[in-house]
Amino acid sequence: MTVLIIGSGGREHALAWKLARSPRVRRILCAPGNAGTAALGENLPIPITDAAGLLAAAARHDVNFTVIGPDDALAAGVADAFEAAGRRVFGPRRDAARLEWSKGFAKDFCRRHAIPTAGAEEFDDLGAALAHLRARERWPVVLKADGLAAGKGVVVAAGLEEAEAAVRAMLEERRFGAAGARVLAEDYLTGSECSLHALVDGRRAVLLPLAQDHKRLLDGDAGPNTGGMGTVSPPSAARRDPELAGRLEREMMAPFLAGLAADGLDFRGLLFPGVMLTPDGPRVLEFNARFGDPETQVLLPRLRSDLLPLLEACAGGHLDQAPVPEWDSRVAVCVILASENYPGKPLVGRPIHGLEDLADAEDVMVFHAGTRRGDDGIVRTSGGRVLGVTALCSTVEEARARAYEAADRIRFDGKHCRRDIAAS
Ligand code: AMP
Ligand code: GLY
Repeated sequence: MTVLIIGSGGREHALAWKLARSPRVRRILCAPGNAGTAALGENLPIPITDAAGLLAAAARHDVNFTVIGPDDALAAGVADAFEAAGRRVFGPRRDAARLEWSKGFAKDFCRRHAIPTAGAEEFDDLGAALAHLRARERWPVVLKADGLAAGKGVVVAAGLEEAEAAVRAMLEERRFGAAGARVLAEDYLTGSECSLHALVDGRRAVLLPLAQDHKRLLDGDAGPNTGGMGTVSPPSAARRDPELAGRLEREMMAPFLAGLAADGLDFRGLLFPGVMLTPDGPRVLEFNARFGDPETQVLLPRLRSDLLPLLEACAGGHLDQAPVPEWDSRVAVCVILASENYPGKPLVGRPIHGLEDLADAEDVMVFHAGTRRGDDGIVRTSGGRVLGVTALCSTVEEARARAYEAADRIRFDGKHCRRDIAAS
């Protein structure tokens, strides 16, 4: 069959790489894709939120199944458009993806269905927000724009001055446009973070292994937040505590599924709660309605069985009939190579060297994100996060060493990576 993947990041290259291994997939299309997905099939130059353009391409190429990668496409209603046209699609409809595109909606859902999360208050009025901050006793406070802000809408403010500046930027200056017209002031939680991924078919959930992202730009969790600088699966918390996944399933996924039923919300797709493992137990920080990036670059290399029937069953609402996924017990580590100036406006167009040396490595996978192959055949950088280098080995120490050894063989001007992914 022909599969269309929507998106252009490392997540989408990993999805394409895994689906290309399915015995039932004959052809992979990716819109708009990158140099990595182009090597597995054909890239279509269509923006991810152009539902009409994507549907027309699906008809033209006889696409049998479509997989949506990014949140912006879900929030734009691309899944709704495909469903309305009678086309099978993996990814929740816009109303269910609201769990990601409105943090206020997600917080309310957690409260009503007893899903453990941080306490928060919501404001759309600057005066009320400032009055709350001035009277606030618990510091730091976490200020979050309600809508999608490309990972930049969260500010941890240590004191009043910083907090005031953040809410003014959102509510007064409209730095995030409509996404920041509502603000959550959330209690600050401490602990280690963990990414939970579950395929949800509306009624049931199948958990994927746990992963951990490293979101800050610099070693030691310093510097600004990014989309993610590297991942490990399983994370150290799960390696230490084999009961952790079961606990998250009981304390988060069970009330989540009960909440869907109670609200009549038909969520079919990938639910990825960002979780903080606090001294008082696990708490949801946010819901994502899609695979994590770069979590996908460590999860899919660990999947030994076919991904396609799982995604199809999830989209079709019959996960109970899907084969049980088989997971590799080895550890996967992914190191992101980013462009100069990321997460600000990246400096791009730089030739990438060393990719061909790694093409045949068995335990190393190089996933492309911001890359483009020019007419001259040269692959150049074209975005903030450029490549994800994943190694799969028996121990975390070996996987780290192997991932860094491979990452160091790739060269481009201004290349930046963290040196401490999976180190703790
Ligand atoms: P979010 O987009 O809501 O996941 O927030 C982005 C990042 O901000 C998270 O990965 C955390 O590192 C941090 N963060 C979010 N909420 C909190 C919180 N309540 N307490 C501490 N850190 C937080
Ligand atoms: N790596 C975090 C995310 O995909 O949101």
